[in-house]
Amino acid sequence: MPEAPLSNSGILAAYRDKTPTSAKLFEEACRTFPSGITHDSRRLEPYGIYVERAQGPRKWDVDGNEYVDYFGGHGALLLGHNDPDVGAAISDALACGTHFGASHAGELRWAQKIQDLVPSAEKVRFTSSGTEATLLALRLARTATGRTKIMRVRTHFHGWHDHMASGQNSHFDGSSAIGLVPGIAESTVLVDPEDLDSARAALAKGDIAAAILEPTGSSTGMVPTSPAFLEGLREATAENGTALIFDEVVTGFRVSPGGAQGHYGIRPDLTAFAKIVSGGVPGGALAGRADFFERLDFDITREKGIEKVGHQGTYNANPVAAAAGLAALTKLEATGACERANATGERLRAGLNDAIREAGVPWAAYGTFSVFHIFTNPAGRADVSPDSFDPFACGYEELRGNAPGAAQKLRLAMNVNGVDLTGWPGGTISATHGDAEIDATVEAFARSLDMMKADGEL
Ligand SMILES: Cc1ncc(COP(=O)(O)O)c(C=O)c1O
Repeated sequence: MPEAPLSNSGILAAYRDKTPTSAKLFEEACRTFPSGITHDSRRLEPYGIYVERAQGPRKWDVDGNEYVDYFGGHGALLLGHNDPDVGAAISDALACGTHFGASHAGELRWAQKIQDLVPSAEKVRFTSSGTEATLLALRLARTATGRTKIMRVRTHFHGWHDHMASGQNSHFDGSSAIGLVPGIAESTVLVDPEDLDSARAALAKGDIAAAILEPTGSSTGMVPTSPAFLEGLREATAENGTALIFDEVVTGFRVSPGGAQGHYGIRPDLTAFAKIVSGGVPGGALAGRADFFERLDFDITREKGIEKVGHQGTYNANPVAAAAGLAALTKLEATGACERANATGERLRAGLNDAIREAGVPWAAYGTFSVFHIFTNPAGRADVSPDSFDPFACGYEELRGNAPGAAQKLRLAMNVNGVDLTGWPGGTISATHGDAEIDATVEAFARSLDMMKADGEL
């Protein structure tokens, strides 16, 4: 993200005024962490807020400021912060011990709940993160197909392991990101979002083990994916013996209880889950076709005389994650949480667009399901308006571009006005966000646009 011209900014002055304790902690953190942070997406110039506690749709920073939260635990908290039922399940599990070094009934009930909700989950293997789930997915796809190449969609994020490092937010030409061994970038075929012809042509060569994508688009729809692209990719992968992997780390149990695949009625071969699947504590899972999982099975591989794929992970299916995951999945299914958050998303996007119209700014709020994105019009096109904006008509460069300084100033101004956005800018919505949060957010957005005008940013 281009650095914003932050000097002489009323927004910056107000932010600093409101968050002195965060500033002090950040200064200290810079002596310990690179850039003072522990996850790239938490970067905010000049520093981000330090949070002390959170409840439902809200959180409070170390200076006592209250925020409507749209980070949502990086999308993990569909049920909001500190859900009482998930919390009780975690407390009960903690009282029995955090790690048995043995199988336990909780992992079985958790996996069975995933199988109930997601019909493609013939088999399940737990991991400790989404990154590990996509790594395992690629390895199983390679062993099942005997091929090495992987197809990915530019800008789609699948965690930070080596095979996912190029073409997500840099190296869109397919060249290698730094720190990778030679050969990884060369074994990755990158296609543009929605470019089904290129995907079909690459798949027809018959040497691609797996195609992986975020089914609603990168960053859960910032660069959107159409149902037609998903259907076309399903068809072309099946025709060419390529595994189709849905990365439902964010969309799983959010778009619908059965994920994006449940909503669109498309059955992938393998699905990576994390975030909501483990109820807001660290965890992940790979699920999918039984034949792809044969390589993990001691007996099947021995009988067939084929090499077994190794898979370990100290915290896989630990009892705390299992309890939290089972409680969260059970609750979201029983309470209509996905539908509620999706409806709130609809109302919030409409409210933000009303504020954009009112301010006469050539921006647009967009998104699908319980996610929203704010297009800050990096090319400065005069014809952008909420009424005509179509993200499918924009290239990924434009959608990801963010007007220089605008996204950053917007986030700071929203913080000043009591709302915490992600850096897209935008956010994920929980089932606990309601009318009070929408009203507060839209008001904060209108005030933030005024502050940006006063800062000369708009
Ligand atoms: C779509 C997607 N896939 C994979 C991951 C990686 O998951 P984790 O952070 O649990 O490793 C993320 C994380 O944000 C994600 O959004």
